[in-house]
Amino acid sequence: RLHLKVQKHLEPFRLSLEKLQDVSARLRKDMIRGLGKHSHHRASVKMLPTFVRATPDGTEKGDFLALDLGGTNFRVLHVRVLEEEQRVLKMDSQICAIPQDIMLGTGEKKRLPTASTSLLMSSLCAQSILIRWTKGFNCSGVEGEDVVNLLKEAIHRRGDYDISSVAMVNDTVGTMMSCGYRDQSCEIGMIIGTGTNACYMEEMKNVKRVEGEDGRMCINTEWGGFGDDGCLKDVLTEFDEEVDKTSINPGVHTFEKMISGMYLGEIVRLVLLKLTEEKLLFRGCPSEALLTPGSFETRFISEIEEPDSGLENAKKILTKLDLDWDLVDACVARLVCDTVSSRSARLCAAALATIVNRIRINRGLDHLKTTVGVDGTVYRKHPNFSDELQAAVRLLAPKCDVTFLISEDGSGKGAAMVTAVAQRLALQSR
Ligand code: BG6
Ligand code: GLC
Repeated sequence: RLHLKVQKHLEPFRLSLEKLQDVSARLRKDMIRGLGKHSHHRASVKMLPTFVRATPDGTEKGDFLALDLGGTNFRVLHVRVLEEEQRVLKMDSQICAIPQDIMLGTGEKKRLPTASTSLLMSSLCAQSILIRWTKGFNCSGVEGEDVVNLLKEAIHRRGDYDISSVAMVNDTVGTMMSCGYRDQSCEIGMIIGTGTNACYMEEMKNVKRVEGEDGRMCINTEWGGFGDDGCLKDVLTEFDEEVDKTSINPGVHTFEKMISGMYLGEIVRLVLLKLTEEKLLFRGCPSEALLTPGSFETRFISEIEEPDSGLENAKKILTKLDLDWDLVDACVARLVCDTVSSRSARLCAAALATIVNRIRINRGLDHLKTTVGVDGTVYRKHPNFSDELQAAVRLLAPKCDVTFLISEDGSGKGAAMVTAVAQRLALQSR
């Protein structure tokens, strides 16, 4: 009986294959809208042209400083691109966690501001206007500004660096380019971390918002915004609605809020709370901790789902949250984690399937073999996320053979490559 009652609350998270196919079809329509000459203004999936058209040809060279502001960490990399061997070397790197006061302070506070998040590059050489912050960032005085300029000014203020050109690259693009170095057929970049997003190589003739018909251009889909026009209402649960309402950006990044690390833990907390209120958990008594937003960290989900140590971890975590649990409670908590993370993996799969199916059809192929460069803590750390994602993609894109490649050293190397290629092109056109 208990089991059935718990299942009833978890049912809305279980998305059938048909539903996922339907979600994929909706995303397909939104992607087309985002690429359109006029329609892109009202698109929730922004489909930003990145102006990345060329992959390295081996004649690039130089030293690059990559500032990689992702979600969990800020990475600084010194990258050297060698012409002769067509090699990218990491010379030096530093990683640090991003403190809260920096995430929420004024834009000026950052000594070396901004790289990935929702910094949306409108052109490689000139502009990169920050459309909006996401993933818990909310620094004042930066939205609507040209981030490349802000970065140049900040570097100038320090006075100890001489930097000639600055380019802004989205983390998905950096990831695709980093992995592209190891696998030539990598033409998709995907992040499932604090936030979620993907980019891919689109045919120029389909990118109606940019002039030109030839070749391809990398498009930053910003798929996190999928559903912001209300088209995913039937997929959202009451818990998703609550997460959205209490987030710092209500109504924005609907799809991301069902998938990425910034929100998964909070969804689980809300479900556990609901089950407690319904007297299906912890003898009906929530603890102060369980009642506190943000107390159930996303990493707990990965720990609780560990195949061997999961149940033991669940017990430890429930104790830490001051809950009066028994063995059944620990098993139910595990089931909740599994349900929420599976939905995330399957929704990601639906979105990725939309992209690979599109690339296959774009190229008139019966069968597509392709590689996706991936990064992000959810993908890296969760024990079965990648397997579930891959299994669902196989079902949703049966004519595509998709290989997943985890990026090394984050997206910084790729960003350096993008800059190197841009510099080469600029020199050639002089
Ligand atoms: C890092 C990349 O490895 O992963 C970043 O270098 C990216 O560019 C990040 O944003 C995404 O993962 P998370 O979990 O830190 O958001
Ligand atoms: C958020 C950002 C996006 C980024 C993604 C993954 O969705 O808007 O630009 O690529 O997170 O880090």
